Amino acid sequence: MPRFSINAPRINQTLDELGHLGESPDGMDRVAYSQEDIAGREYTIKLMREAGLETRIDTAGNIIGRRSGSDDDLPAIALGSHTDTVPKGGKYDGALGVMAAVEVARTLQEHGHLTRHPLEVISFTNEEGTRFHRWLVGSRSMAGLLEQEDLEAVDDDGFGLGPCLADIGGDISRIDEAVRKPGELAAYLELHIEQGPNLYQTGTPIGVVTGITGRAVFEVEIEGKANHAGTTPMSTRRDALVSASKLVLAVQKMAAEQEICRVSTVGSIKAVPNAVNVIPGNASIGLEFRDTDMEALAAAEQELRRITNQAIADDGVDIQVHRQRFTSSVPITPGMQALVAEAAENCGMTWEPVASGAGHDAQAIATIAPVAMIFVPSVDGISHAIEEYSTPEDCANGTQALLELLLLADQRL
Ligand code: GLV
Ligand code: MN
Ligand code: MN
Repeated sequence: MPRFSINAPRINQTLDELGHLGESPDGMDRVAYSQEDIAGREYTIKLMREAGLETRIDTAGNIIGRRSGSDDDLPAIALGSHTDTVPKGGKYDGALGVMAAVEVARTLQEHGHLTRHPLEVISFTNEEGTRFHRWLVGSRSMAGLLEQEDLEAVDDDGFGLGPCLADIGGDISRIDEAVRKPGELAAYLELHIEQGPNLYQTGTPIGVVTGITGRAVFEVEIEGKANHAGTTPMSTRRDALVSASKLVLAVQKMAAEQEICRVSTVGSIKAVPNAVNVIPGNASIGLEFRDTDMEALAAAEQELRRITNQAIADDGVDIQVHRQRFTSSVPITPGMQALVAEAAENCGMTWEPVASGAGHDAQAIATIAPVAMIFVPSVDGISHAIEEYSTPEDCANGTQALLELLLLADQRL
């Protein structure tokens, strides 16, 4: 039996209320630094205060709600996730982890239970990395993993990060102050939807996350020759979009047929000038490879360079491959996994081990603190889309397991 029961209707109500901020007929649009994101952040701060947390925004724009422990000399245990979304995303990715963390704090407050360690609820900013094409920005800032490229990143209109950060209460000139040193956090515990099909297919309420995938992102620019679509003979064309299309298929095959890495995706494509009667003179594609084995990602990069060289030779186009980011895969320690399993069992819930194919803030925080992650089922394994759904029962189960995990970590760490 769990020691304290979370309020199941309340966690689902807060998720619903947050899910109205940035809601559109095509999905959730709470892209980091947008007005909708700011509305979600204000809602989160309001809830944190109602839960008795003392809130602050660090210089990276992360929202941190803190509650004292009975021994304030101990490092804090942090719970959290993110409330930004991808464009046309879902209501649960990230949001569940933040709303659940607030619910855990509220439950402890209602029961007058003081943990030994101070408790922090953290809503990391810009996990998804949509606008500036740089992800895990809040958690990497906190972990001291930010790179110069992150600070200099511009959006598709050439607009920089600094003013965006100022809009949400951060300060790019003092972003280093957001860094937490190893040892400052006793642990970081994150509840998240699985975003894949495993738990849903087996009907298992709790996933004990065994590790988080690595990811390699590239931007490929193809330069051909723009010309008239009606007068240029087919044999003399250098059509950048046709070459890009061949690369899209070749990248898909790298995981699907050649099994060089676990998954490979071209997720964005641009043609210039993007007019129906002009042969595209330029095209660019954004693509990524994911695998827990970093050598598989290196092999995928090698193959990408081979197929682009082939396209240069075959199509007479110029191609530049920009290596954007490699994010290391992160194993979760057996000890932290065992704690999640024990928490599930204490709550009378079955569990199974699952590897995360999505990236998470825990991945960055793992470099400064022990981390654990709990997954709950995603109906039909869908996420980053309007159909993303986890049942109210699963959301409540995950929240209850998160509370129990916190109490176990508080005793054992
Ligand atoms: C983050 O949501 C990711 O792309 O895995
Ligand atoms: Mn996501
Ligand atoms: Mn997420």
